[in-house]
Amino acid sequence: MGVKIILKYIYQKKVLVNFEVLKPQVDRIIADTKISEKQKLTALCELLQNNLKAYDWVGFYFANEEEKTLHLRAYAGEETDHTVIPFGKGICGQVAESNANFVVPDVKAQDNYIACSIYVKAEIVIPLFKDGKNIGQIDIDSHTANPFTEEDEKFLEWVNSRVSTIL
Ligand code: SME
Repeated sequence: MGVKIILKYIYQKKVLVNFEVLKPQVDRIIADTKISEKQKLTALCELLQNNLKAYDWVGFYFANEEEKTLHLRAYAGEETDHTVIPFGKGICGQVAESNANFVVPDVKAQDNYIACSIYVKAEIVIPLFKDGKNIGQIDIDSHTANPFTEEDEKFLEWVNSRVSTIL
């Protein structure tokens, strides 16, 4: 097997892809005029889940301000029972109220946590702001312990800022 083929293989196995490689692909999805808002959100979830090693489940929740609940609008990964989450409950519900990033290196260390799967070891939730208001969030679950860094936070903040332009 030639070096090029090996590199391509590693690349496809999610090892070499970094955030800078994904940014133009995010922009292409955002700018696609042929697909709906929900299809764009799903395509973004799939892009991240397929290309970033520790991103095992990726979803977007959006707030219903009157009901004080979060609603799952798009995701990639295993189906979840938690399609509606009250504000204040779990990591997601806490971010709906705090307006701040929540990085969880070890979900077992959290009291206020909603388990989606026994395989999940870590989670990151980044609020999504539209005109300065926290209207939803991107949520990532990982089967790897403590995988998220400040780089993940910055990248996901950037993704959310791009998503806010289509909402
Ligand atoms: N673990 C989340 C619930 C959503 S699932 O990860 C898809 C939480 O504690 O809010």
